[in-house]
Amino acid sequence: MSETAYLNGEFLPLDQARVSVLDRGFIFGDGVYEVIPVYSRRPFRLPEHLRRLQHSLDAIRLANPLPAADWARLVQDLIARHGGDDLSIYLQITRGAAKRDHAFPGDAKPTVFMMASPLATPDREKIEHGAAAVSVADFRWLRCDIKSVSLLANCLLRQRAVDAGADEAVLFRDGYLTEGSSSNIFVVRDGKLLAPPKDHLMLPGITYDVVLELAAAKGVAVEVREISEDEVRGAGELWLSSSTKEVLAITTLDGRPVGDGRPGAVFRLIHQAFQDFKRRVMRQAA
Ligand code: PDD
Repeated sequence: MSETAYLNGEFLPLDQARVSVLDRGFIFGDGVYEVIPVYSRRPFRLPEHLRRLQHSLDAIRLANPLPAADWARLVQDLIARHGGDDLSIYLQITRGAAKRDHAFPGDAKPTVFMMASPLATPDREKIEHGAAAVSVADFRWLRCDIKSVSLLANCLLRQRAVDAGADEAVLFRDGYLTEGSSSNIFVVRDGKLLAPPKDHLMLPGITYDVVLELAAAKGVAVEVREISEDEVRGAGELWLSSSTKEVLAITTLDGRPVGDGRPGAVFRLIHQAFQDFKRRVMRQAA
């Protein structure tokens, strides 16, 4: 079965979807995207994803081609056509095809693309043993709050982790934690959950917000503030979060154990809360 895609008003098999080589997404990386998890055929935190999409579009000065209600209908339609219960929806908007010129084209029509694929959350072994990470200097630009398709730096950073046999790169800028190459990062010290502030140096993760809400609901003390590299290296626990990885413990950093080298007690509490929360939200939506 070919995976289902949506391109500029039309649903079609993914392997038949075509865009122009002059598309500014291809030529300049001039576009933005979202990744939306779907549980039991229901998109998770869709209004929040669509709000972040609007933030990204505003930041690159591209008009939203569709109102939120139309996005919601399209996402539901894609889920229904694709089949399967737990999916990852990838949604991308570029500034469209135009003669190559850095300046914005006057008349280009945005390219709107979506595809669905099975949601591959971490397996039991990863959840029980945790992920490996390496530390890398964050050499990205200063608008990491935009969910831009220009991901070359993120790809280079992630490959550093892969080359070291690890799962994720934990990024530091000027001695402070920013995020992962494709995830947000949390630290637990003395039972307190620390999270870097949402600013221009990191993507404001939808899962990041869920983690902080669950921590507050479970009575875990939370502090949102700048976190130094030393604090990360001396952390009792280190986690990552994203729409596809949910919340996952990082148990080694640069080959050294984080805490006692196993997913910690606060992680287990929040991971369980995340699974319960997901089930509750999905039941309510039914
Ligand atoms: N990435 N930071 C970066 C750089 C990311 O690319 C992502 C997600 C996150 C987490 O955001 P959220 O919780 O909203 O998924 C943080 C997606 C999954 C991706 O590019 O595939």
